[in-house]
Amino acid sequence: MKRKRPNFYLHLHSPKIPKREGSFFYTFGLGGISMFLLLWLGLTGLLEVFYYIPSAADANRSVQMITFLIPYGKLIRGIHYWAGQLLVVTTTLHMLRVVLTGSYKAQRSLNWLLGAVLLVVVLLFNFTGYALRWDEDISWALLVGTNLIKTIPLIGDSLYQIAVGSSSIGEQTIVRFYGWHIYGFAIIAGIFIVWHMFRVRRDGGISSRQDDYPVEKITRDELVEIEILAMFVVSIILIALALLLPPSLSGPADLNNIPEDATAPWFFIWVQQLLGSGDPLVMGVLIPVFLLALIMLVPFLLDRNQSGIGVWFNKEGRLAQITIILIIVSILILTLIKVL
Ligand code: HEM
Repeated sequence: MKRKRPNFYLHLHSPKIPKREGSFFYTFGLGGISMFLLLWLGLTGLLEVFYYIPSAADANRSVQMITFLIPYGKLIRGIHYWAGQLLVVTTTLHMLRVVLTGSYKAQRSLNWLLGAVLLVVVLLFNFTGYALRWDEDISWALLVGTNLIKTIPLIGDSLYQIAVGSSSIGEQTIVRFYGWHIYGFAIIAGIFIVWHMFRVRRDGGISSRQDDYPVEKITRDELVEIEILAMFVVSIILIALALLLPPSLSGPADLNNIPEDATAPWFFIWVQQLLGSGDPLVMGVLIPVFLLALIMLVPFLLDRNQSGIGVWFNKEGRLAQITIILIIVSILILTLIKVL
């Protein structure tokens, strides 16, 4: 019988995968779902680019046009928006799964770092996307968020100019954010995703327990079947969310007149809450950078043990697990305090 030649998609997986690690309840498909959401983002973003106008005078009007006049524009914008929101959630949960199963240890520490860069890119992708609406709701985030950069000693002013394209927010800012959103972060995300996937294969596939336990294996064809089902379910959820809960859009931004109740995008509300209680440099820059550094240092500082790989809640990784859980819970609490 002629052997089936593996196609490119099958190449993403080892030919045989341990049953336990290949099962949905080990990874919850979170890395794969994040990748699939990125594909949806690329596809719908590509379609939006045909109608979006990156200028302060026309940006908001062009998003109104996409939403209300262009055939299927509302659906495409809705899917783009929801894929971006879900990506923040799935990426965070994927990181949590990796830390709880000790999958960052030993040779996978480099991939942990690559993942941490991807997390930052996902957040910046989302932030620049929000700003492209150029509506009243984004004015607080745009002004306060970018002003934080100025508080950084020595290089703050130059970084600010690089971020917003001028000495104050204006026409140049939207062009700059547009450039970063559709080229800059897209290229960086593309490079890091390919590298991240290459490392998963190079590191021996998904992490698995090193101790003696009966290793039953499944084929990659079986895994791909589960993945196709997951993609189908995720697509249905995205379309349902886009139709039932379309993203909001208010009138054009007036940066001299910020609404009293304006908030940061939901994933940065915790920073807004922190800013209300102290110095902007400490609360808005140093604390977030410190948390990111802690995340990055998990395999190098918080748990340098080589054992416990692939074991849920392994005792060697307690410090790392508690640290990441505390970071996520604190962010959730700060967000809830601000919202409620
Ligand atoms: C856009 C964001 C991301 C995408 C698309 C992505 C994708 C993936 C995929 C598909 C896998 C293989 C299977 C799985 O665990 O589902 C994986 C594994 C891995 N990811 Fe991510 N990832 C992302 C972000 C992150 C983040 C934020 C971290 C940690 C800071 C991370 C660290 C890792 C590690 C260490 C592995 C190997 C896990 C193992 O062998 O069990 N990734 N990633």
